[in-house]
Amino acid sequence: MIRIAAVGDVHVDKDVLGRYRPALEQLPDVADVLLIAGDLTRHGTVDEAKCMAQEFGGLAVPVVVVLGNHDHQSDQELQVMDVLRDAGMTVLEGEGTVLTLNGHRLGVAGAKGFGGGFAGACASSFGEREMKNFVGTTEAIADKLGAALRGLECDALVALTHYAPVPETLTGEPLEIYPFLGSYLLGQAIDSAPTALALHGHAHHGSERGRTPGGVPVRNVAHPVIKQAYNVYQLLSEEAGAGLVNA
Ligand SMILES: [Fe+2]
Repeated sequence: MIRIAAVGDVHVDKDVLGRYRPALEQLPDVADVLLIAGDLTRHGTVDEAKCMAQEFGGLAVPVVVVLGNHDHQSDQELQVMDVLRDAGMTVLEGEGTVLTLNGHRLGVAGAKGFGGGFAGACASSFGEREMKNFVGTTEAIADKLGAALRGLECDALVALTHYAPVPETLTGEPLEIYPFLGSYLLGQAIDSAPTALALHGHAHHGSERGRTPGGVPVRNVAHPVIKQAYNVYQLLSEEAGAGLVNA
């Protein structure tokens, strides 16, 4: 069995220091790895990244993260990634990693993702250059995520994004902003590989549970949604095989 702790949208700055740490110190008792689904900081500054590294660094389990839109706000995302990597975290942007946990290989492919909307109500690559750039950005990110997922050799495969791959986990958000919260292209990428679990954040007013059209369980782990330091999901258990327990 692999136990995956997950949270997103932790938005760490100096005022948040210490809020997560007591629960994080308990992690080795309840989980084998921590995945963080972006919006690690409030405004994406190097100072905030250092706070994030202080709060989530030096844990007794591996930490794998993607960035969110907030982490791009100050145009310092490369420096932010450096700070997090220096603190021992694995930062994924359109790539994957394989961790051996309890004798099982966990593959994690991660990307921030982007918007565009969902089937029947999505942006299309037509007309103005700005619109093509918007949709093209999502297409490029989804392509990289799909390739990363398909390229991993592992026993259980997890997709980690900030933006949502399905609309179900946005339930509770205003319909009008769905196109800014995620894209069906991310869902297609997830369905292009034998993904066991898809984790995302970004939708603070959304819902925890959804499923891709291909049947992959999706969980919105934004901190305001799960209302605790992390949720724990189990893969490769005897009862659920390669799938998610309580899928
Ligand atoms: Fe966000």
